[in-house]
Amino acid sequence: MNHYKNTLKMTALGLALVAGQAFAHGNVTPQAVDTKGLENLGEEWRDTNPYREGHPQHDLAIQVGASAYNQNCAACHGLDGISGGINPDLRYLETGDYGDEWFKQRVINGAVRDGRVYMPRMADFVSQEALWAIRTWLESVAVEQ
Ligand code: HEC
Repeated sequence: MNHYKNTLKMTALGLALVAGQAFAHGNVTPQAVDTKGLENLGEEWRDTNPYREGHPQHDLAIQVGASAYNQNCAACHGLDGISGGINPDLRYLETGDYGDEWFKQRVINGAVRDGRVYMPRMADFVSQEALWAIRTWLESVAVEQ
């Protein structure tokens, strides 16, 4: 638990340094996500969402993901996944493996262009379990195009 708190402190520091402007504007601080009960995924990143429909903790992942999203992504992407229009509305992300790949790519690498951080590398601050839970929730509210 202590270790976790320290990690969070470091995280807050890291964000201030790395994300700088984007976070200052969005007023975002990473929030601890309680992933208790979700299968531990280890260090190595999965290529596809492990908690997808059929996984025994699919429903729990949706619950965890909904609040983890509102805590860590909503400031930029909109509460409950509904974007105000400036940043991508993540309900429109493609479902299935292809969307997983894109999601993973983004949360690991963020979006940095010409030295500006549009989206921080969220995987540096939020666990793989919490991020796939977010993906699971996003798929549950996905809008078909
Ligand atoms: C500081 C603001 C900010 C935060 C916080 C943030 N994002 Fe983003 N995100 C963006 C922006 C801006 C883009 C568009 C990047 C671009 O223009 O290339 C983006 C793009 C994405 C994309 C690609 C969308 C697409 O349609 O191509 C995904 C997936 C994504 N974000 C997921 C997340 C998740 C999950 C979280 C929370 C864990 C998160 N983001 C937190 C700002 C943010």
